[in-house]
Amino acid sequence: MAIATVSKGLEGVVATQTKLSMVDGQAGELIIGGYDIGEIAGKASFEEAATMLWRGSLPAKEEVPGIKKELAGYRALRPETLEIIKTARNAPPIDALRMACATLSLDVSNPNDISPAGDLAMAKRLAARFPTVVAAHARLRQGLEPIAPRADLGLAANFLYMVFGEEPHPAAARALDTYWVTVIDHGMNASTFTARVIASTRSDMVSAVTGAVGALKGPLHGGAPGPVLDMLVDIKSEDRAEAWLKKELEAGRRVMGFGHRVYKVRDPRAEVLARTAEEMAGADLHNRKLYELARAVEKTALRVLEEHKPGRNLKTNVEFYTALVLQSVGLLPDQFVAMFACGRVGGWCAHVMEQHAQDRLIRPQSEYIGPRGLKVPKR
Ligand code: COA
Repeated sequence: MAIATVSKGLEGVVATQTKLSMVDGQAGELIIGGYDIGEIAGKASFEEAATMLWRGSLPAKEEVPGIKKELAGYRALRPETLEIIKTARNAPPIDALRMACATLSLDVSNPNDISPAGDLAMAKRLAARFPTVVAAHARLRQGLEPIAPRADLGLAANFLYMVFGEEPHPAAARALDTYWVTVIDHGMNASTFTARVIASTRSDMVSAVTGAVGALKGPLHGGAPGPVLDMLVDIKSEDRAEAWLKKELEAGRRVMGFGHRVYKVRDPRAEVLARTAEEMAGADLHNRKLYELARAVEKTALRVLEEHKPGRNLKTNVEFYTALVLQSVGLLPDQFVAMFACGRVGGWCAHVMEQHAQDRLIRPQSEYIGPRGLKVPKR
């Protein structure tokens, strides 16, 4: 069979059909299971949005307490998982999460059950336990004991409780919940593709999600919001923004929080999170100055990037406001990518289910550009 033209980075290649989400980069539109991102984020909790992706319909209002209760029942970690987090306490949170993730099937009798029921049972465990893992790591690296999860709090509120040891302000819990829904799924992004490739071999959900965590951690995917905050701290004041940004670009570096492979207008998730960041600034839980600086830096960066790469449409992406929202709930930059994973795990699990149902091995080709006919010298 003749090899088709190589598409670098698989850009423009349609790898599968999905009912889970749609990204329209030209229109700046993101649809999650039929809902516009601006419609669902802030209205449905993460537990509801994840359930919607896993079963195909948003739970009715009466079902929600039962769904939340069931998921809350899976939050606690086994001692073996806690032991791994303890061993990894000095590793970056996303690495600790990847290591712990691989152990999250220890309490299921058949981790290789990839039937719809087996996948659903595993998805509930993964989504419920990711925040517990990150919170336990946050405590252990400070030399503190992990705090056991509480079943009477929502997933986001309970996470903040487990990190800080006290019930969070409702606005903080709402902001984190909105963030998790905002990033729950996003078409055929690199980590989702990774999960689907692994699932396509009929491998299990925990293996697929562990691989996805590894794909997410890179700075070109989920690792950008930490550097966004570093950039804002370094810029310090509005009047320094232009010179700082130009220097970065002249040095050949990318400005974190801008540009996207698919979106050529403002990322719609940035819209949602900009509103959340503003609410947090208004609730006075957050450094208002930082929020105002971010708005000013965004404006300057858009102008400078247009001058630097005319016509490339490098617009604000989700990571820019993620940095502000996560900072405002008290989290540290090196925890941001693990927070992203706590939201995206809902989508990864749904994609694994969809891939298992499609049951088609993903196996592209490569174009060989190496030498031929070499001979091994006599030894
Ligand atoms: N700062 C400076 N230049 C950028 C840029 C940025 N943030 N994003 C893209 N560019 C440049 C590229 O280097 C490229 O230049 P070239 O044509 O001279 O090689 C040009 O703009 C077009 O880039 P494009 O092909 O649209 O980007 P991509 O699809 O390869 O990469 C990202 C997309 C997200 C990896 C890229 O925009 C980036 O690195 N952004 C910063 C990191 C970030 O915020 N990541 C989170 C993504 S949600």
